[in-house]
Amino acid sequence: TASQAAEERGWHLYLVGGAVRDLLLAEAAAGTLMITDIDLVVDGFHKSADVGAGVELAKALQEIYPVARLEIHGAFQTAALLWHKDQDLDSLWVDIATARTEFYPYPAANPEVEASSIRQDLYRRDFTINALALRLTSPRAGDLLDFFGGLLDLEAKQVRVLHANSFIEDPTRIYRGVRFAVRFGFAIEPRTEEYIRYAINSGVYDRTAQTNSKTPALQTRLKTELKHILEAPYWRSALQLLDDLGALQCIHPTMSLDSKLIRQLRLLERCLRRFDPQQNLIPWQMRLEAIIAHLAPKYRGKVAKNLQLQEDSIQHLQNLAAAKTEIIQSLSEYQRPSQVVQLLRKYNLEILILIALQSQRPIRRQIWQYLTVWANVQPILNGNDLKKLGYKPGPQYRQMLDDLLAKTLDGDITNPVEAQEFLAK
Ligand code: CTP
Repeated sequence: TASQAAEERGWHLYLVGGAVRDLLLAEAAAGTLMITDIDLVVDGFHKSADVGAGVELAKALQEIYPVARLEIHGAFQTAALLWHKDQDLDSLWVDIATARTEFYPYPAANPEVEASSIRQDLYRRDFTINALALRLTSPRAGDLLDFFGGLLDLEAKQVRVLHANSFIEDPTRIYRGVRFAVRFGFAIEPRTEEYIRYAINSGVYDRTAQTNSKTPALQTRLKTELKHILEAPYWRSALQLLDDLGALQCIHPTMSLDSKLIRQLRLLERCLRRFDPQQNLIPWQMRLEAIIAHLAPKYRGKVAKNLQLQEDSIQHLQNLAAAKTEIIQSLSEYQRPSQVVQLLRKYNLEILILIALQSQRPIRRQIWQYLTVWANVQPILNGNDLKKLGYKPGPQYRQMLDDLLAKTLDGDITNPVEAQEFLAK
């Protein structure tokens, strides 16, 4: 339907980006394919008249499929259609952009290269495997446009960048490259690796961490990439590869994946299995918090803010050092479970997990015991029981129940009769 609508207007329509790559990979592996994002590019030949071609096409499609939601991003001349999730169908995004030519001007001196805006649109992308296009309109519908050797790289299983300065311009592409490499089991092509290392050594952190009008977008994209990586099943290998490349320095110059952090992340997985999903922990966010928590205390808050993490994550990371000092000091003196409970209930689950990860075994055991057992213990009698026993309801109930809970936790009372005797005293 989209290609018909484009043909009627005399435009070319192309499927580009991840969908083409995934289609070719699935075909090679004779595998099945689940596409949830489709990127289309319209090549409008009468440029001044057709700058809004993508938007016009999206509007035409929405008339045919009114269930789809239409979003228009005027500044970029792109439109997105969203088919919502229902019982049978996962949600499907279709982005329609007008071929863009403004970023990397076509090298006019080279007569061999076909001067088309789709080529220029593909040329400004990150990796050759992402710069393939499938023509959807006739004539030659079904043609694969491969200007940069993407198909060969798919076959050679390598991630190759299109431009030497790509990672300098956009360091988040380092993370994307690693994500694609690990996800598909590809190698990072040697020259591409050189460019990555060059970009990192040229002060990547200083550029990403500077606060000028451009960097918020960069930081948000870095967070988005970290989220993509840390919620994928292959997150460990990706993190390892990022570390091998020195790319964790984009987060902070002192950041590295040492054996301590690896052990902490392993422990974290056990916590996540135990507490998720009842506690609504967000695994990728916890992993990122654990990674940032591994930095020296003075850097944690700044890095969390730079990455524009959620306010509660920033709070956990800023309060971690003080909370850890208090908890470690108190827990090494406390003997009774009731004392542990009284201390630890001031803190939320996330911060306790982060502290447990960083602590020695005895402290970690106490926190774990609190989280899995003691935090769930109820006093042997409840408010109703107190009422039945003839105690006058009022604010004193809280203290009575607290005392009962402490005695229950410490094993001093084990049944209602003992509880009543205790209250009578
Ligand atoms: N792109 C880029 N530089 C970035 C982000 C994106 O050049 N920093 C380009 C890539 O060519 C990519 C396209 O924009 O193919 C669309 O981006 P996105 O949807 O994020 O990537 P996909 O390749 O579709 O990846 P995925 O399968 O993970 O969605």
